[in-house]
Amino acid sequence: MLEVAISSLKLKTPLMLASGIMDEQGDSMIMAAEHGAGAVVTKSIGIEERNGYENPVVYELDTGLINAIGLANPGIDNFMEEIRKVKNKNIPIIMSIFGNPDDYVFLAKKAEDFGADAVELNLSCPHVKGFGSEIGQDPELVEEIVKDVKRKVRIPVFTKLTPNVTDIIEIAKAAENSDALVLINTVKSIAIDVWSKRPVLSNRFGGYSGPGIKPIGLRAVYDVRKEMNVPIIGVGGILTWKDAVEYILAGANALQIGTAIYYLGWKAFEEINEGIKKYMESEGFRSIEDFSGLAQKW
Ligand SMILES: Cc1cc2nc3c(=O)[nH]c(=O)nc-3n(C[C@H](O)[C@H](O)[C@H](O)COP(=O)(O)O)c2cc1C
Repeated sequence: MLEVAISSLKLKTPLMLASGIMDEQGDSMIMAAEHGAGAVVTKSIGIEERNGYENPVVYELDTGLINAIGLANPGIDNFMEEIRKVKNKNIPIIMSIFGNPDDYVFLAKKAEDFGADAVELNLSCPHVKGFGSEIGQDPELVEEIVKDVKRKVRIPVFTKLTPNVTDIIEIAKAAENSDALVLINTVKSIAIDVWSKRPVLSNRFGGYSGPGIKPIGLRAVYDVRKEMNVPIIGVGGILTWKDAVEYILAGANALQIGTAIYYLGWKAFEEINEGIKKYMESEGFRSIEDFSGLAQKW
């Protein structure tokens, strides 16, 4: 009932662990799957090891988190072992990669060699200069990177877009060669401490995630689904089964769960899956596809 297929990936449930949340180690990715994630997405990995920013890198608000981790990661060659651990358990694993425009083909081929089932192009990190949003805000670059990667690997290519643009449909169309679009990454934001009278995060700006961004993610999914048939993986502020169902009704085919893990722990996957299943039973839906995009009719 909860199974979904995204390109060649067959998932037992529509939920994936979102990139950057408890996914630096194979063991924690395995935990996510054991609690009901149909697939896991790795932390975004680049060519070289990066330490990221100085603390503080995460700030908690009433309505979510602002983070500027700075794409801290061990570098792709040091990550192979973590992928292997997850693969050994037959858990679908999607490798998230980031870099300069010229790095993506190299990284995607490595991901394929390591056995990743798909690659997710992070073109959308809002707080690292030169990587993230600057690429994801330029339709020509997005089109070029997606086309280049698609030509060079056989595994499905997912492209994760930023909401920090005027017209997300333009960028989504530039990425239309992708096997799925992942909507959305965090929203560029800032928090200020009234006593020290300065921005809280060491990087000043960060990416906003959690419940406060749900309407923004939902709108991105709704807008892109209206214009395109490409599979959509919805992400942003999903904490409950109702949030998940809203995303599916807007047009998502699968979902990713991030900040909810901070609030609820691994049981987030179990609770959301269970709630979606009950909703489907009460509404008479037999598959996620049965109700994906129904809100578009209005
Ligand atoms: C602490 C933290 C680290 C993140 N790191 C990454 C990352 O490395 N790559 C990426 O594509 N997205 C990253 N994200 C964004 C999430 O994958 C997701 O798109 C975003 O948080 C919205 O979903 P959520 O509200 O369920 O968390 C990160 C988010 C958080 C909170």
